[in-house]
Amino acid sequence: MLHDHKRKAHAEFSDWAHTYDAHWLNRFLFEPSHTLLLKEFKDLPPGTALDIGCGTGKLAGRMAARGWRVVGLDLCESMLHQARFKLNGHRDSVRLTVGDSEHLPFRSHSFDVVTCSNSFHHYPHQLAVVREMFRILKPGGRLLLLDGWPDQFIGRIVYDVIIARVEGGVVWHRESQDLRAMFRTAGFQDIAQKRTYSLFPILMTRGVVPAQPLE
Ligand SMILES: C[S@@+](CC[C@H](N)C(=O)[O-])C[C@H]1O[C@@H](n2cnc3c(N)ncnc32)[C@H](O)[C@@H]1O
Repeated sequence: MLHDHKRKAHAEFSDWAHTYDAHWLNRFLFEPSHTLLLKEFKDLPPGTALDIGCGTGKLAGRMAARGWRVVGLDLCESMLHQARFKLNGHRDSVRLTVGDSEHLPFRSHSFDVVTCSNSFHHYPHQLAVVREMFRILKPGGRLLLLDGWPDQFIGRIVYDVIIARVEGGVVWHRESQDLRAMFRTAGFQDIAQKRTYSLFPILMTRGVVPAQPLE
């Protein structure tokens, strides 16, 4: 049974899926945020990645173009339906699956990188999700989590008022210190954050799984 807020997110994106890629938020928020996140791939040899809340697959396609084997997971089948068309050219390197970020259907230590862009604010139990992300990463693996940056006045207006209204539901954009705390609690090390401003303030948080599993 889906939690009420997840049901709302599912309904929102089922309605939005057909027009999602044409929405103005792509130009001013989603695409610039993917560009910020992909900079982190510069020094990494291609491996296996899981993109959680992958939506219509834009980021997964850009990772596949860099030689990564990607699994895209999303709560909403209609979003994945759009992704399937778009990722036709990357059929061998991208696999798409329906799933809930809180209960990832993968064995522990399966991926080199986990990405999550513009989706985390929909999760009602965010620490549980960060723990799941930690579980499925290999030792030395990285979590790259990207979402709105609501720390200052402008951020709060943008995310807690405008974006919350566009998305028509309850959303939880977290301040940078809360994200760092969640990453630490889950066991991540080398936690670092980067910010960028396109039209909107965007925050990327990176964490690394210790090379030796913690006792
Ligand atoms: C704003 S879209 C972002 C899509 C894509 N990552 C991007 O950057 O364009 C948020 C996505 O998160 C998905 N989502 C929401 N709650 C989820 C959950 N609990 N588990 C997995 N995906 C979820 C939605 O279905 C939607 O496709």
